[in-house]
Amino acid sequence: MAESRTIGVFGAGWVGLVTGGCFAELGHEVIVRDVMQDRIEALHAGQLPFHEANLPEVLERNRDRIRYTLDPHDLADTDALFICVQTPPTYSGDADLSFVWSALDDLPRAERRQVLVMKSTVPVGTGEKVRAALEGRGLTNLGYVSNPEFLAEGSAVRDFLNPDRIVIGAFADEDGAAVEALYGGLEAPVVRTDVASAEMIKLAANAFLMTRISFINEIANVCEAVGADVVEVARGVGLDHRLGPHFLRAGIGYGGSCFPKDSLALKQLASNSGYHFQLLAAVIEVNELQKRRVVQKLQKHLGKLRGKKIALLGLAFKAGTDDMREAPSLVLASRLLAEGAEVRAWDPVARPGELMKGAVLSDSVADAVRDADAAVIVTEWDELRGLATQEVRDSMARPLIIDGRNLLDPAETRAAGFAYEGIGRPSSPFESLPETAEPETKVSG
Ligand SMILES: NC(=O)c1ccc[n+]([C@@H]2O[C@H](COP(=O)([O-])OP(=O)(O)OC[C@H]3O[C@@H](n4cnc5c(N)ncnc54)[C@H](O)[C@@H]3O)[C@@H](O)[C@H]2O)c1
Repeated sequence: MAESRTIGVFGAGWVGLVTGGCFAELGHEVIVRDVMQDRIEALHAGQLPFHEANLPEVLERNRDRIRYTLDPHDLADTDALFICVQTPPTYSGDADLSFVWSALDDLPRAERRQVLVMKSTVPVGTGEKVRAALEGRGLTNLGYVSNPEFLAEGSAVRDFLNPDRIVIGAFADEDGAAVEALYGGLEAPVVRTDVASAEMIKLAANAFLMTRISFINEIANVCEAVGADVVEVARGVGLDHRLGPHFLRAGIGYGGSCFPKDSLALKQLASNSGYHFQLLAAVIEVNELQKRRVVQKLQKHLGKLRGKKIALLGLAFKAGTDDMREAPSLVLASRLLAEGAEVRAWDPVARPGELMKGAVLSDSVADAVRDADAAVIVTEWDELRGLATQEVRDSMARPLIIDGRNLLDPAETRAAGFAYEGIGRPSSPFESLPETAEPETKVSG
């Protein structure tokens, strides 16, 4: 167990609340500050601003050790100040650090030495700039540590409490040691390094994961062309100890609040320094094209999509979260609507609101697929594993399932009377799909 300290957290978003809740779980006193009044009021009332497994329980269990506030001065008497504010992309693709800078403007003046800890994902070189700015303001009693966060939404609490590693980049050894001590009680390798390298570890790790996803998606596309099954291929490839099985699931591309923006930010960071990061540029492009492949698959079966009813099943960028930031479902819905299709959308927790203007939200899967010409699995929700039932088949206008996550068993789904297309899996020949009408018009490409 770590020696109890007082920790201030800027930002009551995913990272801020998970960080605050988990540090409280480790025995620390935590004060979380946000600028959104309704968010702080909701937290006082015990309501979370988003869906994240296990987080409500952690916050409730540690409620005596966590306070929420709008006032940054409440964080003056703390040992460490964690910056967990958003760093969205700007128009140019660079990370927008304006929220970070405004949080720094709000820093309370403390009597004793504090450590400022950057958990937000920032470009390499940010720590150096922040240190210079703090010195310029005479805040010499404030150390700086880069401590990037690797949690994944949907498993954020587990990831925080069971990390693969804890990365701590510091200018001064004593500050790095102080932050390492906060994690006392967790079993994980600690990477103590310089600030720039810590910043780069986060960006490089994300870029590598995205590279694996785009790689297996391209292998999937080739599999489709040559009759191999990407699920089998990934299984065989992943057993190689030099490669490992992770992030080798082919699908309709990555989304979310981190991968798309962090890949752009790293590509931009490189080009700002005069280096063209070719591989990353290709990874991003492959991902964009991958989201659109479902449209071609639908056209293959249905011909023109004008007037066709398409059920999009799953809207969150992945299962276990209601986060729709950069979700493939958004690109898919807007492409389908642009083709003139009627889009019905269902998700157990995500609520798109204005983000999916033109689509009709359904309360249940049954509602979404009724009279539909096709059902598209967009998010790998467990609820969709049992989609291929007789009831669903009978209620659809055409029993066509496009499985963007390779969630269903192709043979079983076809045996249940559906026309089925996964990603990178051999297509069934057209003659075995009597329920699917011949395309009205031939579509090229
Ligand atoms: N979401 C993830 O899975 C994840 C994982 C690892 C790293 N990150 C990184 O962590 C950072 C935060 O991500 P997030 O998803 O938690 O963002 P978020 O948008 O969910 O939350 C950010 C919060 O910060 C608040 N905020 C803005 N300015 C503030 C200020 N001056 N003082 C206090 N609060 C302020 C916002 O109101 C918001 O509630 C980003 O840099 C992100 O790239 C996110």
